Amino acid sequence: MKKIMLVFGTRPEAIKMCPLVNELKSRQDLQTVVCVTAQHRQMLDRVLETFHVVPDYDLNIMKNRQTLFDITTGVLNGIREVLEKERPDVVLVHGDTSTTFVTALSCFYLQIPVGHVEAGLRTYDIYSPYPEEFNREAVSIISKYNFAPTPRAAENLLREGRRAENIYITGNTVIDAMQHTVREDYTHPELEWVGKDKLIFITAHRRENLGEPMRRMFRAIRRVLDEHPECKAVYPIHMNPAVRQVAEEVFGYCKQMHIIEPIDVFDCHNFEARSFLCLTDSGGIQEECPSYGVPVLVMRDTTERPEGIDAGTLKLVGTNEEKIYKTFKLLLENKDVYDRMSHACNPYGDGNASKRIADILEGKEFSAWQPA
Ligand code: UD1
Ligand code: UDP
Repeated sequence: MKKIMLVFGTRPEAIKMCPLVNELKSRQDLQTVVCVTAQHRQMLDRVLETFHVVPDYDLNIMKNRQTLFDITTGVLNGIREVLEKERPDVVLVHGDTSTTFVTALSCFYLQIPVGHVEAGLRTYDIYSPYPEEFNREAVSIISKYNFAPTPRAAENLLREGRRAENIYITGNTVIDAMQHTVREDYTHPELEWVGKDKLIFITAHRRENLGEPMRRMFRAIRRVLDEHPECKAVYPIHMNPAVRQVAEEVFGYCKQMHIIEPIDVFDCHNFEARSFLCLTDSGGIQEECPSYGVPVLVMRDTTERPEGIDAGTLKLVGTNEEKIYKTFKLLLENKDVYDRMSHACNPYGDGNASKRIADILEGKEFSAWQPA
């Protein structure tokens, strides 16, 4: 029987890998082993509980205010023993975190084949996003199976010289995770607080935005909120203390903003679906909001998710205070501009990515996902 090990460590990896864990566990010809690095602790555990996934191994590496060195050495030191003991036929990693890169590197050292879920996303600027662009490019050199979420991602891999027979277009597993989360009858005290006002949904965490860029992003949002009493912002804040420090400084005493602890993914999708607008530097939220027809202002200079830009739902606004301020205001004040951005589309998958990946690993026929 083929032994598949999945290794992941942060919230977004878990959200996108748990549907795959559950799919693989349902296949009789595969043995599934789960190892978490716990690069994130509390935020990871919330997702594991939601999807009822109990890891076989937990490296428990998270440290407060960890550096890239801390994560790299933590994973490298912990994973070796697990890989040597289990000797899986394939190790699946996801996306572009440091857990992902270091696990793939460790598999390379032990000559264990790697399968890369969400392969081929690119900005081609190794400092943006940082360190994610380097991480995912490096994993593509190592990986044997490249599970590309979209045709664009597959094209990137082909252009870089990856072999066509090792590239599979599957759709993104986040769309699998979204199949059962949004409910018509969903309620939450924060949504009751928003009432009939416009819900502005905010998240931010990127390492390259910490400090001054984040201060500029938050100042722009604060200025617009102060001028638009019909808006209520909900901001489930990342647990990174460096993010919390800037948020407290800029949003302190802002009556139109509720900064809350991270919410469950089930709640997060329901909040997104009911939002008027989302402002974020997150990767995953750029994939989720287009399905709900919710416009997203992406507070980054680059994106590896051009599909949402082409579809018109995402707009890159960088971290310049005036640009964010003006674009945010325009969407509130110009209905035509808003309507052009707010139409539902699904450029990232059809909800069957996990099934396709499991079929490929079982050696079964599979049909590539094609966007409509
Ligand atoms: C990490 C990933 C990033 C991904 C993001 C998703 C790297 C280098 N970065 O960035 O690619 O987009 O996760 O959120 O792989 N913390 C807690 N509890 C938690 C999680 C974090 O206290 O459950 C705090 C800790 O102090 C930790 C800090 O947040 O040191 C930063 O966590 P880290 O994983 O280093 O960076 P992220 O910005 O979360
Ligand atoms: N998310 C969540 N709770 C929150 C904020 C975000 O469950 O309080 C989910 C969100 O729906 C998305 C993912 O976390 O699926 C995005 O994670 P994050 O922004 O931390 O990382 P990125 O996608 O940028 O790597």
